Amino acid sequence: MPIRLLPANLVNQIAAGEVIERPASVVKELVENSIDAGASRVVVELREGGKSFISVTDDGHGMRPPELELAIERHATSKLPDDDLVHIGFFGFRGEALPSIGAVGRLSIASRARGAEEAWIIRVEGGMKTGPEPTALSAGTRVELRDLFYAVPARLKFLKTARSEQNAVVEILERLAMAHPDVAFALTDDGRNVLRLDAAKADLVDQPGAAQLKRLGDVMGRDFSDNAVALDVEREGFRLSGFAGLPTLNRATSSMQYLFVNGRPVRDRLLQGAIRGAYQDFLARDRHPLVALFIDCPPELVDVNVHPAKAEVRFQDAALVRGLLVGGIRRALDAAGHRASTTVAGQTLAALAPMSGVSAPPASYAAMPRSGGGFSAGAAQAAMSACAPLSSEMARPSMPVAPAPEAAPNDYPLGTARAQLFGTYVVAQTKDGIVIVDQHAAHERLVLERMKAALAGQGVRRQALLIPEIVEMPSKLTNALLSRAAELEELGLVIEAFGNDAVAVREVPALLGQSDVKSLARDLAEEILELGAAFKLKERLEDICGTMACHGSVRAGRQLTGPEMDALLRQMEATPHSGQCNHGRPTYVELKLSDIERLFGRR
Ligand SMILES: Nc1ncnc2c1ncn2[C@@H]1O[C@H](COP(=O)(O)OP(=O)(O)OP(=O)(O)O)[C@@H](O)[C@H]1O
Ligand SMILES: [Mg+2]
Repeated sequence: MPIRLLPANLVNQIAAGEVIERPASVVKELVENSIDAGASRVVVELREGGKSFISVTDDGHGMRPPELELAIERHATSKLPDDDLVHIGFFGFRGEALPSIGAVGRLSIASRARGAEEAWIIRVEGGMKTGPEPTALSAGTRVELRDLFYAVPARLKFLKTARSEQNAVVEILERLAMAHPDVAFALTDDGRNVLRLDAAKADLVDQPGAAQLKRLGDVMGRDFSDNAVALDVEREGFRLSGFAGLPTLNRATSSMQYLFVNGRPVRDRLLQGAIRGAYQDFLARDRHPLVALFIDCPPELVDVNVHPAKAEVRFQDAALVRGLLVGGIRRALDAAGHRASTTVAGQTLAALAPMSGVSAPPASYAAMPRSGGGFSAGAAQAAMSACAPLSSEMARPSMPVAPAPEAAPNDYPLGTARAQLFGTYVVAQTKDGIVIVDQHAAHERLVLERMKAALAGQGVRRQALLIPEIVEMPSKLTNALLSRAAELEELGLVIEAFGNDAVAVREVPALLGQSDVKSLARDLAEEILELGAAFKLKERLEDICGTMACHGSVRAGRQLTGPEMDALLRQMEATPHSGQCNHGRPTYVELKLSDIERLFGRR
């Protein structure tokens, strides 16, 4: 068979095969063109989720007739003035989108250039061009596509229901809109409004980040904008900005993680891995944070020409970008301190609301003498272990000790402890509400944060046992534990072999206080056996610390004295990330007095 050059229309169809997969890909290309044209308003109309009709109308700079004719030619673009593929300042650079779309559907482009007297329209159907001829259009550009894939029936078969095509369009449009809060977007399908995103009002535009946060909230939900911390860091030409959700706001999938590189929405394994790394101490492995992050850099540091639909990019220095992401997110979360997301209180109230009017069973309530002496324990505590003094390290408050209960409620964010319920929950009063702390979850978190700080600094302080504790367990477990003896010593636990089926524990981490050494050693052995040999214990610090904290002195069921409880609250205030436990669950909830009043119909 002779080699031959393919006819232009076939070439365009082949190009379209890579780029135009479904209605959402058409919308992506057309809306990107509108944004490139400086539009401040973009309206997308669909029929049947875009399967039979798509139009994109903008108020951008428009095109004159000669430009219209060129726009539908392959490899014709206005966006590469310098003839180099490095300095790409627009979404577009290939000059491929419109001819590809024209090869797979019935395309028309109407446009009125800024300052021009009249509008012109050009049509492409099955590779045949007609026009340009005069038409009516007040400003900007309106592109219409009918019968997507009528020319490529094989593709038609892969289209999904109108609803799922519509969903895909919404997703594409939202992503583009997040990076352009100054542009208004609207989407209709079969005449019904599907999405409307207004442009940021002038008063927001002046405040850095405000317009962006408003748009992110419109797309990702108010929960996100209320519970995200701002980021803005720079390193070696890269700027990382945007918002990272508090860990207590999390999802079962990573679908609410949005990443942009120079304003372009991207999906990138490297970047997603970095996000996972930044949150790994705060979230269980099957939970995912919400983020919207923007990386901006000089165009020569990133290659955007690596993916047919431009959904991926390649960084020259990937490690640098990863470090920037991990460091930036962590620092922003550190700055959030003990903040837990407001959704926690919201969920609590929602759970409480149906109960109002019903008399709740009496809680086993213990009034707190501030002297630190004993107090009448509720039934739930009776079976629990005896009161051990809080370890000196844990009990040492990093802020002044709370005033006596008669004094006015203090200004401590987590308030003054008033009671301990069920031997598990510390109830505190703040200036304008109440705080309920899960003492065990909080302690677990404090142990992890202290352990991390100690490992980064002087090392973990150990406390020698007067008499070594001999812990018997199956040799499988002793072996697991002993194989990690050196690492455990770094974490404050000193063990040695004692016969075949036992270990001797000589020293324990001081920050655990009086702990049940036997069960601590057994549980750690099991944990280590389960983790397997592939991990360094430090990499699994949250698991190890969780296990350790379970045996520390502030475990659930332990009665705490007033000063001990206040010390715990002050520790939490002074400790980063103490608003959530090692698995992303909250360590405390706060109910504002106004919310409580609302519960009782006082407001
Ligand atoms: N909505 C629009 N308003 C003004 N000009 C437009 C619009 N859409 C397209 N154009 C012009 O038509 C040209 C071709 O558009 P097309 O999308 O095919 O290619 P591109 O955007 O340059 O590159 P890419 O193929 O990467 O998208 C653009 O370079 C631009 O000059
Ligand atoms: Mg384009």
